[in-house]
Amino acid sequence: MPKLEVFAYIVGLILTIAIVLYVLMSYIITLPTRPITPTPTEIPTATTIPMERETVIVGDTVYLPLPRKMTNVTVEEAILWRRSIREYTSQPLTIHHLSMLLWAAYGVTETRWGLRASPSAGATYPLEIYVVVKDRGVVLEDGSYLEAGIYKYHVYTHTLKLVKKGDYTEDLYRAALNQEWVRDAAINIVVTAVFERTTRIYGERGRVRYVPMEVGHLGQNVYLMATAMELGTVVIGAFYDDEVSKILSAPPEEVPMYIIPVGIPKTLYRISFEEIQIYIERNRGR
Ligand SMILES: Cc1cc2nc3c(=O)[nH]c(=O)nc-3n(C[C@H](O)[C@H](O)[C@H](O)COP(=O)(O)O)c2cc1C
Repeated sequence: MPKLEVFAYIVGLILTIAIVLYVLMSYIITLPTRPITPTPTEIPTATTIPMERETVIVGDTVYLPLPRKMTNVTVEEAILWRRSIREYTSQPLTIHHLSMLLWAAYGVTETRWGLRASPSAGATYPLEIYVVVKDRGVVLEDGSYLEAGIYKYHVYTHTLKLVKKGDYTEDLYRAALNQEWVRDAAINIVVTAVFERTTRIYGERGRVRYVPMEVGHLGQNVYLMATAMELGTVVIGAFYDDEVSKILSAPPEEVPMYIIPVGIPKTLYRISFEEIQIYIERNRGR
């Protein structure tokens, strides 16, 4: 074989091996964050998906309205107006509110690796999200209500899966040391953590630092989204872990971290940048 042909053959071989290795490595690296494709029975047919991106409920699965731009509140206004709000009216949230709160908490914001709205150490995503829906707590587009129950949020399909039917708000209120805002809220988002997902890579640092930090990121996203949509919320860390786990029917590896009630606020918190500027100037004593 002439020298040039041998050279071209070797280069071709190396290129092929490199491409195969690249494809293989991409697959392996994405395994932990690879979207779980819903089983065919879960996928609604084209005729069952209304064009207006409305909610579709198929069996135990709620296909939430798709994430989209909802408000004209800027990020600095959302930060300015974020407040822990504990007094809610008895009005329901809309399914669009719920959809946006869950997306802001942990939804997908990147489509190659399935990265999320909240940052996560090594993209290990240790958190799981439940929603405790009160009876008449969430109204659908047609004026009917989402069935009261406990639902689990599935990030990649932006769906809720019914864990169990029934209004568990009162039980959660008791598990949260009778904090009335849990009982009065239309919904309670409950965040649990599977520490193992992070500690198997980062060890003790994952347990004492990364996972709690990530819960905080998620909580802040919910606060800001709620503020932008003129909803009221507060993060709750005081509750009996075992009782919350039992209410959720959560698997033993999931540790409850936050309860986040959300409702229509009795009063909105509003302040202007001018007021903040005057406050700061006064403190400067100039
Ligand atoms: C880790 C953590 C745990 C909290 N736990 C509770 C709680 O159990 N109950 C409650 O009413 N508020 C709770 N809060 C809310 C704080 O009370 C609130 O953030 C604080 O009073 C400051 O008010 P602001 O959020 O309006 O700025 C918690 C906040 C954090 C960050």
